[in-house]
Amino acid sequence: MDASFIAKKSIENLISELEVEGAIAPKSESTRSPRAKKYIEFQKFYNIFLIVFIPSLLYAICRYTIQHNEPWYDLPFYLLNKTLGVSSVIIMSLAYIIGPLAKFSSRYKKYLGHRKYFGIGGFFLGTSHGAMSLLLMSPNNYEVFYNLETGRLNWQGSLSMLFGTLALFHLFFIAIISLPPVMREMHAKQWKNIQKGGIIALLITFLHIAAFGYKSWFNLDKWYGGMPPFSLVGASSILIILFIRKIITLHNQAHGKKTLLNFYQNTHKHLH
Ligand code: HEM
Repeated sequence: MDASFIAKKSIENLISELEVEGAIAPKSESTRSPRAKKYIEFQKFYNIFLIVFIPSLLYAICRYTIQHNEPWYDLPFYLLNKTLGVSSVIIMSLAYIIGPLAKFSSRYKKYLGHRKYFGIGGFFLGTSHGAMSLLLMSPNNYEVFYNLETGRLNWQGSLSMLFGTLALFHLFFIAIISLPPVMREMHAKQWKNIQKGGIIALLITFLHIAAFGYKSWFNLDKWYGGMPPFSLVGASSILIILFIRKIITLHNQAHGKKTLLNFYQNTHKHLH
């Protein structure tokens, strides 16, 4: 490798480290080195992950271990798996609210760069949850998924597994096209449309959860200690985000705010 290339990379590393540690301050956010920007964005994502994950885990302990008397040995795997599923949904929902919020008010534009980390973070949490669930799959762990006489999946189990797998495939595809080499090869409009289609992964996840959880949502006896089931927490976070997105879109339409895509389409029309 060329010595000047190595020297340049070392200097870039050094500058970004000094910026991150606050030893040198960039003149403004836009002059911050790209590496330092990425580091800081990732750090912020990590903080948000903890803000979502830790309360979710505490909720799981209160609801399942303390209120429903499930054994403590369920905590390291069975309950952790539930918490990962819910955290994944909440983090992915956040990824899909940042864009509309930034169009609503420029105050939120600074969070646009975080979407990538939310999307990829949500994908990794969802994958871990999917893999852990497969290890746990048995009528003893998930009675509601099985026909207890035959020991095979019932309708609820089959549909929930189908939607879980589809959601995971969808997220995997989106994560792949977020990789810089793949992104560079794609047309910007096509890339953006596919990313927007990620909202479909959220809808499929809703079906994954609703397929097995809907009965417990309306049965208050299942709200141990008055706490709603985790499936309802996950499903509600998706519905709330879809609702807020709709409101913001309607608000922006009413106030004549144009999205980047509208702008692109209009410019394109005028050129032809
Ligand atoms: C192959 C993929 C997947 C499989 C096999 C799977 C399996 C499961 C199982 C067995 C449950 C029931 C857990 C329980 O009641 O304790 C569950 C719940 C859940 N899953 Fe998945 N899942 C998959 C993908 C996903 C993905 C991609 C997400 C999120 C993006 C997700 C989010 C959730 C949520 C929020 C719950 C409700 C939590 C609860 O009530 O326990 N799942 N999943």
